[in-house]
Amino acid sequence: MARKVQFVETVLRDANQSLIATRLPFDKFEPMLETIDKAGFYAAECWGGATFDVCLRYLHEDPWERLRKIRAKMPNTKLQMLLRGQNVLGYSHYPDDFVKLFVQKAVENGIDVIRIFDALNDVSNLKVAMEATTKAGAIASGTISYTTSPVHTHAKYVEMVKELKEMGASTICIKDMAGIMGPQEAYDMVSAIKDAVDMPIDLHTHSTTGLAFMTYLKAVEAGVDIIDTAISPFSGGTSQPATETLAYALRQLGYEVDLNDEMTTKMATFFKGIRDEFVADGTLMPKAMATDTQCLTYQVPGGMLSNLMSQLKQMNAMDRFDEALAETPKVRADMGYPPLVTPTSQMVGVQAVRNVLDGQRYKTVSKEIKAYCRGEYGKTPAPINADIQKMILGDEQPLTTRYADSLAPIVEPTREQLKGIAKSDEDVLSYIAFPSLAEKYFEERKAKEENEVTYTIVEC
Ligand code: CO
Repeated sequence: MARKVQFVETVLRDANQSLIATRLPFDKFEPMLETIDKAGFYAAECWGGATFDVCLRYLHEDPWERLRKIRAKMPNTKLQMLLRGQNVLGYSHYPDDFVKLFVQKAVENGIDVIRIFDALNDVSNLKVAMEATTKAGAIASGTISYTTSPVHTHAKYVEMVKELKEMGASTICIKDMAGIMGPQEAYDMVSAIKDAVDMPIDLHTHSTTGLAFMTYLKAVEAGVDIIDTAISPFSGGTSQPATETLAYALRQLGYEVDLNDEMTTKMATFFKGIRDEFVADGTLMPKAMATDTQCLTYQVPGGMLSNLMSQLKQMNAMDRFDEALAETPKVRADMGYPPLVTPTSQMVGVQAVRNVLDGQRYKTVSKEIKAYCRGEYGKTPAPINADIQKMILGDEQPLTTRYADSLAPIVEPTREQLKGIAKSDEDVLSYIAFPSLAEKYFEERKAKEENEVTYTIVEC
């Protein structure tokens, strides 16, 4: 019998985030939810990552309400979210009580699969979220943040997979956020993991460098079970490769693909209209749709290259771009080869620019890099360069324990603080994650409700 390959559709989360900075409002995609639900995806990735932040910051939406509304319209498909381990949806570590309650509420509001990653691949940063996920009855997808370096060997990744399995992972995700994984590498890495554990493996990559179709094909040959794709109008460039194209190619090669073509065609027609609107208003830029092979040369994510450029432009120093780019891998090596993903990509990039513009390395150091050197982000893949660490920390000693163990519980004090303002634990969680944004949202909501009440009275 033909081997089955399953698909995760990313249009509502990663494609939306990578191409149009997560600006898709609920009302715009709502008419398609029932169709997506009937298309036969393994899961629909629809929450987490930047969606929570952007809902509150720009779209005036309650992210929890968005999730419940998606759930109501999609009873048959697993809903998936992306979670930054102990960082949850933010940029620094939170206390365990917040991580646990957040995961519990995400599942209660409709999430079935939580993909949990850590920027350093430090499994102690994944443990609390993984355990909370299985406890809540959802699927914990233990995730490897994929990168290449002298210390990132297949043996190390396999060791990590075994630890994730022990923590309760039901599936493993290899997350290639930069789209730099080549086809042979995919074949070798999936084979190594499949040899070591008998678990479903999901490969996540981006089309940024143009490798993705080939990479998925070789991963499927090596036994990968699930691939992440985006419906064609929202595919390519910094997003995922196209859902329909991979379904077509894999069927031709004899694999079983349980997607309903009528539904994916409907989705493509619908999202083409949406894409055209975002092209017309300038949100979707041609740059995001282009193939960028620079990332292969420098082994840095595409998003980092554009961040470097915008930083240098702001400082009127675009002529230093080549130097800043050359400094980036050196800073990464000094920092013990962290994978470059939120938040380490920003930290390393900013430091590289500082080192070049100051004319002296580590003369200026951000508070995040200082915290990183103290060990607040966890154990680095290789040791931090000892001289540089000493220079940054002075007499301060780096942590020898897990940072979150030193953080006081935050949920109960915040419940107290928000008495009369928060309507639910979900509100409390939003506030802990993004205090000023949540506060503004609560005010907007109150004003809107008061208006609605007035309106009803007038109508009577
Ligand atoms: Co991604």
